[in-house]
Amino acid sequence: MYQKVKGTQDFYDEVARKFRYLQKVITDVISKFGYEEIITPVFEHTEVFVRSSGEESDIVSKEMYTFKDKGDRSLTLRPEGTAGVVRSYIENKMYANATLKKFYYLGPMFRYERPQAGRYRQFYQFGVEAFGPSTAFLDVDVIISAWEIFRALGIENVELQINSIGDFSSRTSYASVLKEHFAPHLDTLCPDCKRRYDKNPLRILDCKADSNHPAMKTAPRIANSLSFDARAYFEKVLKILEAGNIPYRVNDNLVRGLDYYTDTVFEFIYTGDDEFKNLALGAGGKYANLVPSFGGPDLPGIGYGMGIDRIIAIMEKQGLFPELKNKPAFVLLSLDEDSKIYSLKLAQMLRSAGFSAELDYLNYNLKPQFKLVERLDPAFIAIIGEEERNSRKITVKNNKTKEQTSVREEELLAYLKENLNENA
Ligand code: HAM
Repeated sequence: MYQKVKGTQDFYDEVARKFRYLQKVITDVISKFGYEEIITPVFEHTEVFVRSSGEESDIVSKEMYTFKDKGDRSLTLRPEGTAGVVRSYIENKMYANATLKKFYYLGPMFRYERPQAGRYRQFYQFGVEAFGPSTAFLDVDVIISAWEIFRALGIENVELQINSIGDFSSRTSYASVLKEHFAPHLDTLCPDCKRRYDKNPLRILDCKADSNHPAMKTAPRIANSLSFDARAYFEKVLKILEAGNIPYRVNDNLVRGLDYYTDTVFEFIYTGDDEFKNLALGAGGKYANLVPSFGGPDLPGIGYGMGIDRIIAIMEKQGLFPELKNKPAFVLLSLDEDSKIYSLKLAQMLRSAGFSAELDYLNYNLKPQFKLVERLDPAFIAIIGEEERNSRKITVKNNKTKEQTSVREEELLAYLKENLNENA
């Protein structure tokens, strides 16, 4: 017997319906904000992720599913959505005819992480990316769109944490302050951090192995290294958030695990009191240098990703899904072979008129056919035998009220249209 790969999931029945429900609610909300779907490949040239997330990020250094194809190219299953969207935006010169371009995507991402509650190796992310001139209004509108999605799904217990990691000059001066701070502790830091110290000292703050190292707690905050412009920008973002009544908490430890961010960064943290506490339901930020560093124009982008798997798990826990059973409108039971042939025709007629119809394919006895009725719980049923098939008159039974009505075949559609929602 084969088993699924560790850290992956099968979605079927109720959970598959929950997945699609989430997709529908989310895409309904996001399309009101003017986002359009973008579908990019599940794998890209490895370089796309290395250049964007950064060599020293956990994603690139430890978590990528990278392989050589038969043409000896190094390819990687996407660990996140931003890099592929940026690659596509530039490759297709989408910047040429629009000043602002807003995309959303939903699809599988792959990270070789240690599986645990809400953490998988193949997981699904809904994400958005907006490309256009830098403005705090856009930053806040992006954050509001995520907030609206949580609201539409009914998820409370979410805290918006926000920070600024500054522009390029703020980051450069912060990197040198950090190096000065960690220099006397270099011997006691983990080997990864020793490397990060030279290559990208900001990543030290993100280290899981050294998270309890005393020097971590006393590390200088990026807030003190922000340039005048970066600070003014951040203050504006906060002011607009307040005007929009979006509650937030400034978390000055928030640096994010990917290298491409500049200025505004944020996470939506689950605060419920269960095993998912403190998990990020979504996270993102602005990236001013990613588009130009991929060879595009000097335009920033901003976006976020949301963990669909986590959101499903939390909504299940909190009982936030509506009933999602797929009840058919009609189930046809039939007593002999010719009646089954007739039932199949009737079912086809119903389906092409937009009603869902099912029938038992195997049995002529009623007992097992009623089992099907029990399982599917349709709005209406009909038993088709010789009499019905010859007279083309069907006794339609309302499965809830148990009322029976004799309906001629040619009137069946009209009968259902009239009675389906009111009586079933
Ligand atoms: P990220 O913080 O790496 O950002 O991931 C975003 C969200 O994906 C997380 O907050 C979490 O909900 C979900 N997630 C991440 N890893 C896993 C996992 N192993 N299992 C389940 N869920 C997971 C990004 O990916 C950026 N691309 C977001 C972004 C878009 N920034 C700008 N634009």
